[in-house]
Amino acid sequence: MPGVPDLSVQIGRMRLKNPVMPASGTFGYGEEYAPFLDLEALGAIVVKTLTLRPRLGSPPHRSTEVPSGILASIGLQNVGVERFLDEKLPFFEGLDTRLIVSIGGETVEEYARLARVVDRAERVDAIEVNVSCPNVRRGGIHFGSDPHMVEALTSVARDATDKTLLVKLSPMAGDIQAVAVACQKAGADAVTLINSPVGMAVDIRSRGSRLGRNRTGGLAGPAIRPLALYLVWQVVQAVDIPVVGVGGIGSAEDALEFLIAGATAVQVGTWNFIDPRITLDVIHGVAHFLEDQGLTAVQEVVGTLG
Ligand SMILES: Cc1cc2nc3c(=O)[nH]c(=O)nc-3n(C[C@H](O)[C@H](O)[C@H](O)COP(=O)(O)O)c2cc1C
Repeated sequence: MPGVPDLSVQIGRMRLKNPVMPASGTFGYGEEYAPFLDLEALGAIVVKTLTLRPRLGSPPHRSTEVPSGILASIGLQNVGVERFLDEKLPFFEGLDTRLIVSIGGETVEEYARLARVVDRAERVDAIEVNVSCPNVRRGGIHFGSDPHMVEALTSVARDATDKTLLVKLSPMAGDIQAVAVACQKAGADAVTLINSPVGMAVDIRSRGSRLGRNRTGGLAGPAIRPLALYLVWQVVQAVDIPVVGVGGIGSAEDALEFLIAGATAVQVGTWNFIDPRITLDVIHGVAHFLEDQGLTAVQEVVGTLG
């Protein structure tokens, strides 16, 4: 009788019991999902991106359904890093799963401060740097679109912490391979991709954006899966550090596509809104697939694209 397949994966200094975790911004601060599933079954939990100060986020309309996905403009609503550490972090004490804290800022100095503050929290296993934020010092252009800016952010975060450091890339980067290489050079332990590409939807009767005054939003859900898969595959070929794949994953089959393309782990985003237990189905489905294939470890499928 073959045993249960080994799903564990290594990212930086972190050993994950399996390669499946929710994506930032789609799983609150973790606690909100506790009534629906055993959080200890997850490889890790990634919390909503935290900023230095609390943010109320965007005005309505914040989201609208589009073919095979949603457009969302949340505006990084969050309680701020200090309140997170005081009020939300205690929930994780004694919870046996990895905790990844996502950070986002408007200047390089803000990222550095955030990384220093989060570094002091012993319970946090890793920091994910969300580079899909506007750089106020550079006229609001996205940090994530420029390898030099991403390198600067990665390096200040690296200087601030010995925790595992992931950098979450934007698909709006002109050359995503160059951005990923810049992260590796600056000391990132892994890259996560993709954050949501920007999209629009117009209400033809009012001739206004379906996202109201926000006008544009991040496109997420199955609509972006082929794009995410392609970019993951591109980046896997450019770097030696682990790649975490995210974009439209809603089943074990979807997750396996990313693993076969070379992702070490995957994140599930929008699908948590449709089924809050979806991450468990993905974990169990990957295990069953491995058993069916007569494989003993998830490592045996990672990067096996023919
Ligand atoms: C409502 C919503 C909020 C999000 N908030 C964040 C966030 O705070 N930080 C972040 O890095 N990504 C955020 N994202 C992007 C997701 O983490 C993920 O990269 C993207 O949605 C693609 O995955 P999916 O297609 O599985 O949703 C958000 C996405 C959605 C839909």
